[in-house]
Amino acid sequence: MTSDPNFNPIARPYRWLEYLTLGRALERCRLHFLPALLNRKKALVMGDGDGRFLAALLASNPHIHVDAVDISATMLQLLSKRCEVNAARLKTHHTSALTFAPIGPYDLVVTHFFLDCLTQSDLETLIARITPALAPDALWLVSDFRIPQGPMHLPAHIVVRSLYLAFRIITGLRTVRLPDHATPLTQTGLTRIAHHYSLAGLLTTELWQCKPRPIALAPP
Ligand SMILES: C[S@@+](CC[C@H](N)C(=O)[O-])C[C@H]1O[C@@H](n2cnc3c(N)ncnc32)[C@H](O)[C@@H]1O
Repeated sequence: MTSDPNFNPIARPYRWLEYLTLGRALERCRLHFLPALLNRKKALVMGDGDGRFLAALLASNPHIHVDAVDISATMLQLLSKRCEVNAARLKTHHTSALTFAPIGPYDLVVTHFFLDCLTQSDLETLIARITPALAPDALWLVSDFRIPQGPMHLPAHIVVRSLYLAFRIITGLRTVRLPDHATPLTQTGLTRIAHHYSLAGLLTTELWQCKPRPIALAPP
């Protein structure tokens, strides 16, 4: 018996369900920092789903090579199809990100609405596995739901609980609350250099960067 979620049944309708429930808000969130990624050379993209972000990344950055990891075969098929004009720069890996052996150095990691599929301990395991494979100036682009303080706190809480319930029913996802990515990313030496909140604070997209490593100066 496996406890891995199964996103295959939701892969084809995923895009339309997203548009029906949240309009273009997630799309805008994913693409917000795309212009900051144009000089990246090698990316690890985990849980990109049907590949809409990846197609945009490959189209906008003609030099980038990408490892795309997803546990869902159907999501990967859709992703490959959507990226087929740039297939030479794409390698797909049908496996859990939690067991994927990273083939770095990566100067970009992308996790859009993926870290929220993980428990806190799985998220920490993932970050510990990936960070040794990062280039010194690597960026990690994270998009996720968040629960803001203030008047949006309760509505956001209800939306997030409802989404987790729907994903549990459809995919068997066991995660029930948003994990905290900021603490383990900070502890492993990354700094949040930019962020953008949208949909009244329900969505966040964040750019994290490896702290520059000290340059070893030659003795005089
Ligand atoms: C909620 S969807 C997000 C899809 C897309 N990134 C987006 O922005 O909407 C989560 C994606 O992560 C994948 N996924 C879930 N758990 C995974 C795991 N442990 N390893 C790799 N992929 C996983 C699912 O198959 C799915 O494609």
